[in-house]
Amino acid sequence: MSENPAYPVGLRLSGRRVVVIGGGQVAQRRLPALIAAGADITLISSSATPSVEAMADGGEIRWERRRYQDGDLAGAWYALIATDDPVANTAASAEAEARRVWCVRSDDAEAATAWTPATGRSDGVTVAVLTGRDPRRSAAVRDAVIEGLRDGTLAAPRHRPAAGRATTPGAASTAGMAGSGSAEAALPGVALVGGGPGDPDLITVRGRRLLAAADVVIADRLGPRDLLDELPPHVEVIDAAKIPYGRFMAQEAINQALIEHAKAGKAVVRLKGGDPFVFGRGMEEAEALAEAGIPCTVVPGISSSISVPGAAGIPVTHRGVAHEFTVVSGHVAPDDPRSLVDWAALARLRGTLVLLMAVEKIGAIAAALVAHGRPADTPVAIVQEGTMAAQRRVDATLGTVGERAKAEGVRPPAVIVIGNVVAVGPARLT
Ligand SMILES: C[S@@+](CC[C@H](N)C(=O)[O-])C[C@H]1O[C@@H](n2cnc3c(N)ncnc32)[C@H](O)[C@@H]1O
Repeated sequence: MSENPAYPVGLRLSGRRVVVIGGGQVAQRRLPALIAAGADITLISSSATPSVEAMADGGEIRWERRRYQDGDLAGAWYALIATDDPVANTAASAEAEARRVWCVRSDDAEAATAWTPATGRSDGVTVAVLTGRDPRRSAAVRDAVIEGLRDGTLAAPRHRPAAGRATTPGAASTAGMAGSGSAEAALPGVALVGGGPGDPDLITVRGRRLLAAADVVIADRLGPRDLLDELPPHVEVIDAAKIPYGRFMAQEAINQALIEHAKAGKAVVRLKGGDPFVFGRGMEEAEALAEAGIPCTVVPGISSSISVPGAAGIPVTHRGVAHEFTVVSGHVAPDDPRSLVDWAALARLRGTLVLLMAVEKIGAIAAALVAHGRPADTPVAIVQEGTMAAQRRVDATLGTVGERAKAEGVRPPAVIVIGNVVAVGPARLT
């Protein structure tokens, strides 16, 4: 065969007949991309892996349960030949050649008329890499490019709006808010990004990408602060706690700042700790933006309520131990008239209680739970600065936690876990 490089091309297979011969691991790996391309796929194979079988059961492919026979490639635009029988593969690729159907062969790249590149997709970009006969090298190049696109280190600005995208204020959805499934890097307006509990690796891929595309970032004290250092110098980073609020409440002043920067045409990221909708006032900001007619994209984040216990080796549920977990704000004491929490009802539960913002009031909260019937020897763990370098865990019981927290000098941010899950598993996981 010649040493000429392959000619790259993007096949538009929607509605076109594609024949896959052999239902093993190769088909299992290649079929999802063919299905995503909308191809009209016929699988010819006497057996299939459970995943391939599920694609047939789900109607994504048509499966003819038999061996290959001459004529199977009639009308095909493209063929994937991947049986474990070299004789059948040779016969099928000879038919493909005769019918001028581009054909990939899993067992003999030289005999094939097409090669499958290593592919990946990120934010509307398809990356396809061919390196001749070195698939691992192709995959490594593909991974590097995809990762760069995802984390924003590889800039790929749009020069044309993508089809179906909201580009004008208020055009996103009825509430002016796009769900997390439709977030895109260049969307104008504001992205409410859940940054996770603090470790910069625990933000979502989408959150990281939007952050990399931001002109203005308004950030909370909690969350992945380290990521802010990595932003290019032109990005304006605003500490939400330092926005002067004058005649407004602090939250209103933040809402105003979001609106003003978005109206100035900036791509604004509101970077929040954990998840925006778990004690994060995210919906107040989304509503203010909707009222101002500004598109808002919500990117969920990993909430500290689950991830911080997990980082300290505590599962919030465990088979045979806890069938429920309840996340509660402890920012006001149980006897405070502003409290909306039914502590008596919580004391009756046997499952896990996860308290946020409760360091200051933990003594009073523990006393209320015991007074309402939760046993005083229930295990409790306080996890301070979870997922960060200074993470520490203090163990106690409901009867001792108030004193222990004081004696140990526990400070916010901390998540407090109450329940028998605290005692399961190895004491320390990293
Ligand atoms: C205003 S709430 C915001 C919660 C956030 N939206 C979330 O989903 O994690 C702040 C509280 O979250 C908890 N928290 C957030 N990050 C934490 C961390 N890294 N370690 C321990 N607790 C954390 C603390 O209880 C803190 O007082």
